[in-house]
Amino acid sequence: MNRLGVFLIFLINTFLLADIKAGKKVYAENCAICHTVNGGSALGPDFNIVSYTRHKEEIEKYGKDPSSYYEEFGYNANAMPTLPLKDQEFKDVADYISSLQPFKKWMIKKKPIPSK
Ligand code: HEC
Repeated sequence: MNRLGVFLIFLINTFLLADIKAGKKVYAENCAICHTVNGGSALGPDFNIVSYTRHKEEIEKYGKDPSSYYEEFGYNANAMPTLPLKDQEFKDVADYISSLQPFKKWMIKKKPIPSK
């Protein structure tokens, strides 16, 4: 592989990992009071399970606007608040949550929900 290829791969990796790292911070500051990772119980579902069952786009969508999507996601009621974060922060946290199950999720993902 030429040097440009190596450089591009390096660049792409840096950006992807940066998003996951930023997303972990968003999670710790905004979601951890209600969502665990790697098991445990809290008000909201554990993010490892969510990572199994949801596409990244769905996670982002729900994070941004739970009151519009709770029925489509199979809930009868919505207890999760709409959080005042930036679009980029929702993207980053969705990257982080999706990264919790990097391989298995491809096998059991549901179809993405249509956007509103
Ligand atoms: C005050 C508690 C609370 C906070 C804070 C919170 N959540 Fe939730 N979340 C919930 C509850 C409760 C549910 C279950 C559905 C509902 O009530 O809306 C939920 C459901 C979800 C779901 C749907 C899971 C599924 O597959 O069914 C996603 C995705 C989600 N939360 C992401 C986030 C993200 C990302 C953050 C942080 C940016 C966050 N939540 C912060 C309480 C919370």
